[in-house]
Amino acid sequence: MTIDDRIVLGIETSCDETAAAVVLGGRTVLSNVIASQHDLHAEYAGVVPEIASRAHAERILPIVRRAISDAGVRSGDLHGVAVSNRPGLIGSLLVGVAAAKALAWSLGVPVVGVDHVRAHLLAGCIGRGGGGVGHVPPPPTFPALGLVVSGGHTSIYFCRTATDVVRVGATIDDAIGEAYDKVGTVLGLAFPGGPNLDRLARTGSAAKPGFPISRLGPESLDFSFSGLKTAAIYAYKGVPEDERTRAKREARGEPAHPTLSAPDVAATFQEAAVATVILKLERALDRYPAAVTLLVGGGVSANSLLRERLSGKGGGLGSRRRLDVRLPEMEYCLDNAAMIAALGSLTLAERGWVGDDLTMTAAPTTAAL
Ligand code: KG4
Ligand code: ZN
Repeated sequence: MTIDDRIVLGIETSCDETAAAVVLGGRTVLSNVIASQHDLHAEYAGVVPEIASRAHAERILPIVRRAISDAGVRSGDLHGVAVSNRPGLIGSLLVGVAAAKALAWSLGVPVVGVDHVRAHLLAGCIGRGGGGVGHVPPPPTFPALGLVVSGGHTSIYFCRTATDVVRVGATIDDAIGEAYDKVGTVLGLAFPGGPNLDRLARTGSAAKPGFPISRLGPESLDFSFSGLKTAAIYAYKGVPEDERTRAKREARGEPAHPTLSAPDVAATFQEAAVATVILKLERALDRYPAAVTLLVGGGVSANSLLRERLSGKGGGLGSRRRLDVRLPEMEYCLDNAAMIAALGSLTLAERGWVGDDLTMTAAPTTAAL
């Protein structure tokens, strides 16, 4: 039996989404069930770890059952169970890991722990098969560059294969989605601010000169978004002044620093955030000219301007640099278990369908395992 005939259940509980999915052959999504907890965390404008773990514990079994029944299979048809076991909120990860190990052990199939961030890289390589619903993209060609842009990560990878992946750049402060969410909160948008800021930006115009684009060292592939976040907040709220500075400015007869409207702040912020990502990808392509594919994933890959600028059409990065750009379908941009099942299937296939032993556990950071 090749990987093409194998059915794997994926489980995802690393942050505030409880998700389960069934995937055939590492690419064909048979079911993809996601229960978001956004309503539970909205009043705190951020994810509260204890609330997240409790909600996962309540939801995990019904979600797994639904994923199996939506897929039209029985639990006895599964050939393996994959679970995101790093990085993430430890209490949340442990709920998924415990469920995955118990289920795999009771079914007598292998269980495999996979890295959530690396799984995001496969989100543009999976799809629904048949029935006119979506399509299954062809397998990607390697070597590839990878870009993960999410609420917790902003990283660039060099991928020799889907499982042989090295991180070559990462944020040194805020993740891009975190900057979107924080600026969104200051602009009075509902949490998570990212998608709402994206919509608002379409109604404003980007100011000239724009907000700062962080370059770091001349060849750096790392990111920094905290300066951009501060620039956006000051542009909306005004630059803070102590009494002496204000008195001096007023003595010079200068007006207070002008502020921008919320839609214009959103448009200027979005323009700079996306330009930062494109700049670092251009540098990465100069450093790794052999890359023929760009794998993209993470919540911010749903962003309308980023998709436009990355695309293989028009003047997008893909067409300029002759890259096969794998933008995920919307349902696979955000945290989901189909991408976990996809990476789990490839990992198990490489290992001859031998799973992790039952000492496999969760870790809050990738480095800890
Ligand atoms: O991948 P994800 O679901 O969770 C993490 O692993 O972090 O990403 C969630 C992030 C949030 O910060 C959310 O605001 C952001 O993705 N996001 C967006 C858009 N849709 C979701 N950011 C900008 N534009 C969007 N359209
Ligand atoms: Zn994620």
